[in-house]
Amino acid sequence: MRTAREAGSGRAMRGATGPIAPALLPDTAAALGSGGLAVGGVDLLELARAIGTPCYVYDTGTLEARAREAARVFVGGAAYASKAFSCVAMARIAAACGLHLDVASLGELRIGLAAAVPPGAIVLHGNNKSVAELELAQARGVGRIVVDSLDEVDRLEALQARAGGPPVPVWLRVTPDVDPHTHAAITTGRFDSKFGVPIVGGAAAAARERLQRSPAVRLVGLHAHIGSQVVELQPFQESARRLAALAVSWQLEELCLGGGLGAAYRGDDRVPSLGDWAEALERGCRAGGLPPSLHPSAEPGRSLVARAGITLYTVGTVKRLPGGRTYVAVDGGMGDNPRPALYGSRYEAFLPRAVAAPRPLPAAVVGQHCESGDVLVADAQLPADLAVGDILAVPVTGAYGHAMASNYNRIPRPPVVFVADGRARLVIRRETVEDLLRLETDGPVPLGGPG
Ligand code: LLP
Repeated sequence: MRTAREAGSGRAMRGATGPIAPALLPDTAAALGSGGLAVGGVDLLELARAIGTPCYVYDTGTLEARAREAARVFVGGAAYASKAFSCVAMARIAAACGLHLDVASLGELRIGLAAAVPPGAIVLHGNNKSVAELELAQARGVGRIVVDSLDEVDRLEALQARAGGPPVPVWLRVTPDVDPHTHAAITTGRFDSKFGVPIVGGAAAAARERLQRSPAVRLVGLHAHIGSQVVELQPFQESARRLAALAVSWQLEELCLGGGLGAAYRGDDRVPSLGDWAEALERGCRAGGLPPSLHPSAEPGRSLVARAGITLYTVGTVKRLPGGRTYVAVDGGMGDNPRPALYGSRYEAFLPRAVAAPRPLPAAVVGQHCESGDVLVADAQLPADLAVGDILAVPVTGAYGHAMASNYNRIPRPPVVFVADGRARLVIRRETVEDLLRLETDGPVPLGGPG
């Protein structure tokens, strides 16, 4: 069977009103004789019937292929940035494919440990790490703690004074002051940032001195992350150059250049490959004087998981405004994907029952939440015969979808299903209203404790 990706390449009818571009679908997407679509050998309509909607579907073939590719192209190693999609099943895949794990909270750390990721392969991030996070990281022997501020060093020292133990190996997170040309909310490496310490102005040098004096830490490397959904290579290369120059002058051998490579969300989006990105980082490091024996590492999140995920919804209401827009309302929305509302992110939509059909109908795909900003795809193109009851799919939702889902309007979060080899595996069950009610209580709060 030809995959939909192959079948679609070179097809004449592309663009706005053509079928969904195969490049937006997971690796194993395959057109079915029925006109439908299988992913991981599973018919998406059958899956929607079995598990209900909305649901997040991940192709494990794509997850594994991207994870292995990252492990291969980053000679200096790569850690999967689990914030993009954190669950035990995903952490297991990342580790099995040769990646380390980047965690940025107690919850992500606990998920990584629950997946039996070796603690030494875990990197702990956070611009305001709690004592509980640092304590667990230190107790379990997390591989690297990425020091983001000097207040954190105070906490690490207090911890060592209490618990003892050898100094923990750390990277210092610096801001290289490079503009990644992405959304302001996900720009992180400028001078004016809540993350890290700026190289410019001497703050990084002062932090280094503080770290060198500390009995609680051992500075072994540098870290920078310039931002997310970055689609140009030049800012990555420049950040690498600046960090490499600093690492050389400070005689540090470990250099992690963060994540950030963008994903293509719409048919006309173009993004560099993981290999292109790795080469740009290497080039920057050479330009900064890093000796050829040393290689940077990276922390990809989105670029490994975005295209592996598709969200399935059921169309509940179709409203055609006379002389105006068509609104297609589905049984999910900003609760399962807040990215359009938060960043103005643009997606596409299609009907899995008619994956090769033209999509001449312009429509706004909206959710069921109580606000007008609850839009999933503002300018979707859909088949003309779209009807209530149809299963509607939004592709490329594998990154920062489930990860950022909320219970707004007390709507339970959708389940996560992994598909491969014709089988579907439930890895996170659907939340229920009972789950939400279980948090409701009316107990006294004991006041006047110590402190
Ligand atoms: N490393 C660090 C230190 C990070 O802060 C991040 C992302 C990554 C790696 C992974 O970046 P990626 O390869 O996924 O771009 N919620 C936003 C994205 C926030 C990214 C936060 N940090 C969104 O939905 O676009």
